[in-house]
Amino acid sequence: MSRNETATGAVPLPAAEAAGPEAAAPARVPAHVAIIMDGNGRWATERGWPRLVGHRRGAERVKEVVAAAPGLGIRCLTVYAFSTENWKRSVEEVIGLMRLFSRYIEQEADRLAAENVQMRFIGDRGRLESRLRRLMDGIEARTRHNSGLRLTVAINYGGRDEILRAARSLAAAVAAGDLAPEAADEAALAARLDTAGLPDPDLVIRTSGETRISNFLLWQSAYSEYEFVPTLWPDFTPEMLGDILGRYGRRERRFGAAGG
Ligand code: IPE
Ligand code: IPE
Ligand code: MG
Repeated sequence: MSRNETATGAVPLPAAEAAGPEAAAPARVPAHVAIIMDGNGRWATERGWPRLVGHRRGAERVKEVVAAAPGLGIRCLTVYAFSTENWKRSVEEVIGLMRLFSRYIEQEADRLAAENVQMRFIGDRGRLESRLRRLMDGIEARTRHNSGLRLTVAINYGGRDEILRAARSLAAAVAAGDLAPEAADEAALAARLDTAGLPDPDLVIRTSGETRISNFLLWQSAYSEYEFVPTLWPDFTPEMLGDILGRYGRRERRFGAAGG
C-alpha cells in the first residue's frame, strides 16, 4: 500500500479483484463521497416547469445513486439536501421541499432497511416541523444497526452553524469543569460535530457547474478532493458517478506532505 493510500483511508481493492474481470474498475475508491446536489431549479425552469418539479426529479436521482453506491465501492454517501441559507427561498418552495423530504423517508424506508443502509441526518433539526423530525428520528433508529452503506442527508445544514454548535458545546463542557481548556483539541471538536463517527469525505462532488462550497462540510472537507461537473442534478446518473470515481483513482493526495 502506498504512502498516500495509507493516509487517505480510501479503500484499495484486493489484488485478486483488481486483476479479475472487474479490472476496469478504479484501483482506489473513495470510502466517503459527499455530493452537493445542485441545479434542480434551473433544470425545471429551462423546461418552463415549476422549480419543485426539478426537486422531485432530483429525489429520483438520489434513489438511483444510493442504489448504485455500494456496487461502486462507496461505503459512506453524504448528500446536501437543504442548507441553512435555503430558508431564503419562497415559502412555496421551502414547504414543497420539506414535503418531499417526508415523502422520501416514507417511501424509501422499507427499501433502505432491506438494503442494509444505515441512514442518518446532519443539520439543526430545531427549525423543522415535528412530523418530519419524527420521520427522521424513526428511520435513524430503524437503520442504526445496519452495516451497509452509511447514507447521511444534510437538512437545514450549514458548516458554520455546525461548527458553532460544536464550539458552544465545548465551551459549556469547559465552563462546567468537565473538560480542561487544553483538552479542547481537534478530536474533541470533531466529536461534537453532527458528523461525529463518520470519516471525512474523500471526495466532494458538486453538480450544475457552480464552483463553490456553499457552507457544506467546512471542517470535514479540509483535505477532500473536489469534482465540479456541469450536469444539473436531475440529469446526473450512476454512470457519471462511476466516471468521477475513475478520475479520483488517478489523483495523488498529499495531505501536506512533499510530492513524489
Ligand atoms: C439544489 O438545486 C437543491 C436545493 C438547494 C434544495 P437548486 O434548487 O439550488 O437549483 P438551482 O441552483 O436553482 O438550479
Ligand atoms: C447548495 O446549493 C445547497 C444544496 C445543494 C442543498 P445552493 O443552490 O443553495 O447554493 P448557492 O446559493 O448557489 O451557493
Ligand atoms: Mg442551487
